[in-house]
Amino acid sequence: MTAYASFEDFIAGSSAPDGLKAVLTTLAATCADISRVVAGGALAGALGASGSVNVQDEEQKKLDVMTNDMLTQALSACPLVAGVASEEMDFVQPTTNAPADGYVVLFDPLDGSSNIDINAPVGTIFSVLPSPASPVEADFLQTGRNQVAAGYGLYGAQSMLILTIGEGVVGFTLAADGRWLLTHPEIRVSADTKEFAINMSNRRHWAEPVRRYVDACLAGKTGARGKDFNMRWVAAMVADVHRILIRGGVFLYPWDAREPERPGKLRLMYEGNPMALLIEQAGGKATTDGVQPILDVIPSALHQRVAVALGSANEVDQIAAA
Ligand code: AHG
Ligand code: MN
Ligand code: MN
Repeated sequence: MTAYASFEDFIAGSSAPDGLKAVLTTLAATCADISRVVAGGALAGALGASGSVNVQDEEQKKLDVMTNDMLTQALSACPLVAGVASEEMDFVQPTTNAPADGYVVLFDPLDGSSNIDINAPVGTIFSVLPSPASPVEADFLQTGRNQVAAGYGLYGAQSMLILTIGEGVVGFTLAADGRWLLTHPEIRVSADTKEFAINMSNRRHWAEPVRRYVDACLAGKTGARGKDFNMRWVAAMVADVHRILIRGGVFLYPWDAREPERPGKLRLMYEGNPMALLIEQAGGKATTDGVQPILDVIPSALHQRVAVALGSANEVDQIAAA
């Protein structure tokens, strides 16, 4: 049996400041707890709707609410966390700790909510930013470049924790004894790919360049691209991004004409930014349109949307060229 380093060993040996180490340890422990609730399914009371809607007017599932509470409670008890913000909470929530050189943590507690009841992969996405004492909403609205750490928990066939602290991307697998073990010490996104991910049912709503790009992929070997493409769509960004980190690919959730005033469906602060940092740290590209880096988008609102085109670097360039 290979001896894998534990999450604790990895964190202890990393260059992260002590305060950040404590925040990441709390996030890892909470993702392990969430994994158990997800795995319990009906037995853990984790299926079905909660009967409420969130600030984005989406129906909240029971698991959205449960995981939001778990993360909020655990992080608020962490001395270096000055505040939290979540997809499932209307406003930022400063903690009573108010440390001078602490962090704010923004999260999507349960990504892929529509997968819960069908026993398909879901995840938890998190973004960690530096914070002054007693942060207000404006202190959360930093560009993705400011992130000191980002990652996700993925609850699929295996539970995994993927993390960057700005020194590449590492992956841990949840062992039977409840420990996260470092099974993926250096995750890199391949530069080229023959696989794309987009919700094809929205094709008629896309802008022309996105349609051109996807149509060229669909044309396959005999088309302009000269190769056949495969398509995947898990309907959980966590799982789609994970596939890209492991075997390459591109993921798009572009602007579309259904809600023309919005740049896209996904949220910048707790979906776009953390995933963009992971993809860039693994050598890929994470953009809004094939060109503009997501990490450079200046945020103006906590729940603002962003168009997403990310993954294998050369393929993202093809999106820009379409
Ligand atoms: P959430 O469950 O946190 O609201 O996020 C769902 C997002 C994202 O994870 C996924 O890629 C996308 O919505 C799926 O969208 P479709 O419903 O268009 O498939
Ligand atoms: Mn989500
Ligand atoms: Mn969610």
